[in-house]
Amino acid sequence: MSDISDEIKIQINTAAAIVKERSSLIGRPMTYHVTTFGCQMNARDSEKLSGILEECGLERCEDELEADVVIYNTCTVRDNANQKFFGHLGSLGAVKKTRPDMIVGVCGCLSQEKSAREKILTSYPFVDLVFGTHNVFDFARLFVMVLTREVTKGKGSTVTEVWDDTDKIVEDIPVRRNYSFKSGVNIMFGCNNFCSYCIVPYVRGRERSRTSDDIIGEIRRLANDGVKEVMLLGQNVNSYGKGLDENISFAQLLQKVEQVDGIERIRFMTSHPKDLSDELIDVMAGSKKICKHIHLPLQSGSTRLLQSMNRHYTKEQYIDLALRIRERIDGIAITTDIITGYPGETDADIDDTIDVIEKVAFDGAFTFIYSKRTGTPAASMPDQVPEDVVKKNFDRVLAKVQEISTKQAAKIEGRIMDVLVEDINRQDPSLVTGRLSNNLNVHFPGDESLIGKIVDVKLTQCKGFYYIGERIQ
Ligand code: 5AD
Ligand code: SF4
Repeated sequence: MSDISDEIKIQINTAAAIVKERSSLIGRPMTYHVTTFGCQMNARDSEKLSGILEECGLERCEDELEADVVIYNTCTVRDNANQKFFGHLGSLGAVKKTRPDMIVGVCGCLSQEKSAREKILTSYPFVDLVFGTHNVFDFARLFVMVLTREVTKGKGSTVTEVWDDTDKIVEDIPVRRNYSFKSGVNIMFGCNNFCSYCIVPYVRGRERSRTSDDIIGEIRRLANDGVKEVMLLGQNVNSYGKGLDENISFAQLLQKVEQVDGIERIRFMTSHPKDLSDELIDVMAGSKKICKHIHLPLQSGSTRLLQSMNRHYTKEQYIDLALRIRERIDGIAITTDIITGYPGETDADIDDTIDVIEKVAFDGAFTFIYSKRTGTPAASMPDQVPEDVVKKNFDRVLAKVQEISTKQAAKIEGRIMDVLVEDINRQDPSLVTGRLSNNLNVHFPGDESLIGKIVDVKLTQCKGFYYIGERIQ
């Protein structure tokens, strides 16, 4: 283990002693709740925060308003994510008035933004701790600071640690996985693409890759621990390996992951179309473990807007790439992200987007209304599109996506496919919910004993974007 891990251990031991004392004072174990907003990266960071808190002796509490320690891991990619978070924080503020010993922490992308951070510090002074995306590794030390600080709470007493950027990658942070049988694995952090609408490069810092030895070591440990499916995580996995001493591409990394015994399914996210290589398509086509799904954000079908967005591909290049993927990889599902309302967007641009949706026949799409992010180039562009126009265009895009993806999903009706069972169905506990390789969900009769198993399921009824099925023994 590195020095830093030893350092984390020391901090955890210090925190654990205080937690033990407080637990005996209140006559029960101290509890925590981590609320995650946003993407898979945040979900993975939350597993690390939970891991550290459990090492410190806290127990998980399902109810955010009941816990002794509440951490909000925030997202700021669109303004509605900010609003959602501040809504939660307001409610928690009311609870904290009646339970002043509650500890409230805020981390994640929003805390990297100076104006949002200042808003927290001045308008929500009951927050005990604010830390950034680059400071997750240091959470145990910050937690100790909160536990041991003077009890003068209120304005100015919030422990704050936010680095603007970092070149370091800290290994061996404790993790509390949300699922026993699947796990995210960070392969790289940050983003260098600076798409002109996007705040991520400003809040997640510069792109840096983990070494393949560290990644494979982690995946081996996960496999030994019963994990069957890994999701390799990065903002742009196709540029994995840049800047490392070793010479390795993302496709080569996938080949190494494929060799780990016990891992049966490999997923990854997200791919930037500009960096997707033929080598990757070949590796996916020849793999038994890589899932038949690729998430390939389009953003817009208009070459003019793509250029303004700094995406480095044209409409035609995107279509060509997607069709090549379809041709080479049998049964592949292609999903995407689409933004409507980007500055200067016209009806003709929307026509282009609709055209790509039809030509590529997306299996699914996340559709977003453009959200102006202060500090990004797009925020100061002229021709911001009026809300009513955006709404009309958004509805058009969404309707087309739904029409096409429903048709796509129906294509496999009646087939028998392997499914990784993930959960008991929330609406009907006589059903379990599992995931197909192509990322569609299927619900079928079963019980808890199936969770984490890969079973054969007949897809009896397509319900648009999910299936009802029955298990084939
Ligand atoms: N407004 C709307 N959507 C955005 N995304 C990123 N930035 C913005 C923004 N400012 C979307 C992109 C990206 C996804 C994760 O979020 O489609 O692929
Ligand atoms: Fe944002 Fe573009 Fe980076 Fe994705 S690739 S995180 S959209 S800047």
